[in-house]
Amino acid sequence: MGSLLIYGSYGYVGSLVAEDAIDRGLDPILAGRDRDRLREQVADLEQPGRRFSLENPSVVAEALEDVDCGVAGSSGGCGISPGRCSRM
Ligand SMILES: NC(=O)c1ccc[n+]([C@@H]2O[C@H](COP(=O)([O-])OP(=O)(O)OC[C@H]3O[C@@H](n4cnc5c(N)ncnc54)[C@H](OP(=O)(O)O)[C@@H]3O)[C@@H](O)[C@H]2O)c1
Repeated sequence: MGSLLIYGSYGYVGSLVAEDAIDRGLDPILAGRDRDRLREQVADLEQPGRRFSLENPSVVAEALEDVDCGVAGSSGGCGISPGRCSRM
């Protein structure tokens, strides 16, 4: 199984997706721009986290470099289709 990253994982939709992925036996990388919310969720769900914002395309590209599949739970765009699994 490849790697899965959920952007906006601590929002309402993102957290539902993250919890469902974990229930299915996946180990998603939790991601978003808010350090405190991400840190809290990483501790709660015991999954890896990756903090980055979406302003700079090269930062986003670097953050997704080793990611096979990305899901956006965020309202901000990041090149990942909301609610869809996009191959990186
Ligand atoms: N809630 C629903 O029932 C529902 C149903 C269908 C569709 N949707 C859609 O799903 C999406 C998320 O909704 P939600 O209810 O989960 O909202 P939410 O709880 O407010 O969560 C929004 C998430 O998006 C992130 N975000 C927002 N603007 C961002 C930006 N410019 N850059 C990076 N991250 C950003 C937020 O992180 P920060 O804290 O860092 O801003 C947060 O993680 C929306 O597009 C909404 O229209 C929601």
